[in-house]
Amino acid sequence: MNKNSENISGWKRFMKSLTKAHELGTEEDIMLDHDYDGIKELDNVLPPWWLYGFYITIIISIFYYFQVFYNSEEYSQAEEYAAEVAQGKAEVEAYKAANPELFNTDNIVAFNDEENLAKGKELFTTKTCFACHLNDLGGSIGPNLTDNSWILGGDVKALFNTITNGGRPGKGMIAWESTITREERIQLASYIISMQGTSPANPKTAEGDIIFPVEEVEVVEEVIEE
Ligand code: HEC
Repeated sequence: MNKNSENISGWKRFMKSLTKAHELGTEEDIMLDHDYDGIKELDNVLPPWWLYGFYITIIISIFYYFQVFYNSEEYSQAEEYAAEVAQGKAEVEAYKAANPELFNTDNIVAFNDEENLAKGKELFTTKTCFACHLNDLGGSIGPNLTDNSWILGGDVKALFNTITNGGRPGKGMIAWESTITREERIQLASYIISMQGTSPANPKTAEGDIIFPVEEVEVVEEVIEE
């Protein structure tokens, strides 16, 4: 036997010790008595490589248990979770404080230039708004967005707010804050404003008690009546 073949047989022996595989051709020795509708079972040992992995996890778990539960008296999963949530919230607050212009709704002004309105129109389709409000904004699952009756308000800030935070719970209008950028939400709100007073093919009956824009004539009449 030269050195090379010794190495190979050493390697083979090592591999065999890791699998403890039963010699091929001698399956009869480890065949179990059961016969499951013609299916027979061999009583193979668990492969040592797998068992070692299992033993390692047991050792780690004991170490982990003592490490976590005995070394640090104050540790609890609930506290760790609460601490991480608090940290996350603090980071969000810090980000908001550092970028007030991104979160302040007081400074929102509707676009009225063609480019931004065209972008709003495009977003209305690509962001699936049309699925519930229809392409002409006449409304189906969601309300008609061309009339001046609003459930949640029809000025640009109210529209922005609805798109950002969604409608009333359970009504189907989700919050889009995480999927549509602030700029795009303003473009959508502006596009909706630009569609005020248009005549959709099948307008849904007006919903909501907030009237906006209030027609000037009505205001004048009210003043006169008083
Ligand atoms: C799954 C259906 C659905 C989708 C998609 C949807 N909406 Fe809505 N939307 C609704 C419903 C339902 C309401 C009514 C909410 C309520 O009653 O509180 C609503 C309400 C609104 C309102 C307020 C209307 C009012 O009278 O105050 C606006 C504005 C609006 N949606 C814009 C959008 C925009 C912009 C998109 C796309 C980014 C969109 N919606 C996508 C279903 C939808």
